[in-house]
Amino acid sequence: MKELGGVRCIVTGGAGFLGATLAAALAARGAEVVAVDALLPGTGANHANLDGIRATLVEADLATADLAPIVAGADAIFHLAAHTSHMGSQADPRHDLAQNADATLRLVLAARAAAPTARVVHASTRQLYGRPRALPVAEDHPVDPPDANAVSKWAAEQYWLLENKVHGRPVVSLRLTNCYGPRLRIADAKQTFLGLWIRRVLEGEAFEVWGGEQMRDLAFGEDVAAAFIAALDAQPGAYNLGGSPAVSLRELASALVAANGSGEFRVETFPADRAKIDIGSYVADDRAFRAATGWAPEVTLADGLSRTLAWFRPRLALYV
Ligand SMILES: NC(=O)c1ccc[n+]([C@@H]2O[C@H](COP(=O)([O-])OP(=O)(O)OC[C@H]3O[C@@H](n4cnc5c(N)ncnc54)[C@H](O)[C@@H]3O)[C@@H](O)[C@H]2O)c1
Repeated sequence: MKELGGVRCIVTGGAGFLGATLAAALAARGAEVVAVDALLPGTGANHANLDGIRATLVEADLATADLAPIVAGADAIFHLAAHTSHMGSQADPRHDLAQNADATLRLVLAARAAAPTARVVHASTRQLYGRPRALPVAEDHPVDPPDANAVSKWAAEQYWLLENKVHGRPVVSLRLTNCYGPRLRIADAKQTFLGLWIRRVLEGEAFEVWGGEQMRDLAFGEDVAAAFIAALDAQPGAYNLGGSPAVSLRELASALVAANGSGEFRVETFPADRAKIDIGSYVADDRAFRAATGWAPEVTLADGLSRTLAWFRPRLALYV
């Protein structure tokens, strides 16, 4: 799908961080975008995420709504809606399972009935690999979920991949690394530690870095959106998606302070309850996806952090 003009795209989770970023990229390419989102509290959902984007928002919960009329006639379905909290999934794994596995199955079945030819790109996660046995992590790394959220996200991915294996639907699943950028949830650390770091530097307060030596290859939201669009033309299957060259959390904190021009952080011991489900360092081997699509991240970490801070500065009140 090189041409997206008039192509009908469903983006679930479209009022969230990555969903709205993708909706913006699709709309800019002339696609007809329907963002489906339940605007759930505690997630990255925010009406402001869709400001200025030519997309229709359908407020619906994938876990309960009649989905066939919503997906009817879709050319592409980008499935990003999910419960994403790792600690939350441990506290209430049945809710996590319902939001990820069962809600995805409802979408799979609705698409079978009402959008049988739609291409699907699913947002999966590197979390399903658990604590990496070696770096970088390629797709053949054992699946070893460290928490309930990784179990339900793994199930969701596998339901979509079965649609390809059994029914021939073109499905690509992207196992994302940590992502950041405009529209991130910054009110707290519920979506990512980096959200809270960003809030703190913008408010002129110190932030805490837990551990500090863990490596992360962060992906900028616009690069991730470009990958989702590129995935429409990739061979079906599951691919890792990484980002810019890996840095330690301590280096990331310094880069954020540099991008802001000021700021302070303290390095603290990793809290014991989180350490149990922490995956340590992660770096994606995403050569398969790059080879399949020609995609490569375009935004450097320094530039991405500057752009993120610049985007939030005038909008802080809408996000905290
Ligand atoms: N952000 C990251 O670093 C990251 C990393 C790995 C994987 N992912 C995956 O990418 C996807 C998007 O993540 P995000 O960071 O944009 O999260 P987000 O919280 O910003 O967005 C998720 C959106 O989905 C919506 N949603 C959740 N359950 C829903 C349901 N049942 N029905 C309708 N809407 C529902 C929420 O209201 C929210 O707007 C998720 O599938 C997540 O697992 C994200």
